[in-house]
Amino acid sequence: MPKVSFKNKTICIEVEVGTTIAVCIRKAGLYIETPCSCIRVCGKCRVKAEGALFPPSYTERGFLNENEPDIRIACLAKVNGDVDIQFIEKGGTTNSAIASKEKRRL
Ligand code: FES
Repeated sequence: MPKVSFKNKTICIEVEVGTTIAVCIRKAGLYIETPCSCIRVCGKCRVKAEGALFPPSYTERGFLNENEPDIRIACLAKVNGDVDIQFIEKGGTTNSAIASKEKRRL
């Protein structure tokens, strides 16, 4: 099964192929803001993802910027092998920092 790591590989989980990054984050006990509750209409659940992911769908491509090739939408991007996820800083804090305060709020 694919391995998904977070926080510079200090957290690592195994998931089924096809699992979304948002589900991986929840399974790891971490938190990411999901303003649209993962109904895939806001594109704000952005993460930096490196590794084996399926190519972005038409819907996901609509939220991506070609100048940021490693950025993916957590609710839409699906794992296809080992992946490393990094949370994106937002105004001095990070989604991973929020994780310690509000785990499992996906
Ligand atoms: S939370 Fe809206 S697309 Fe992921």
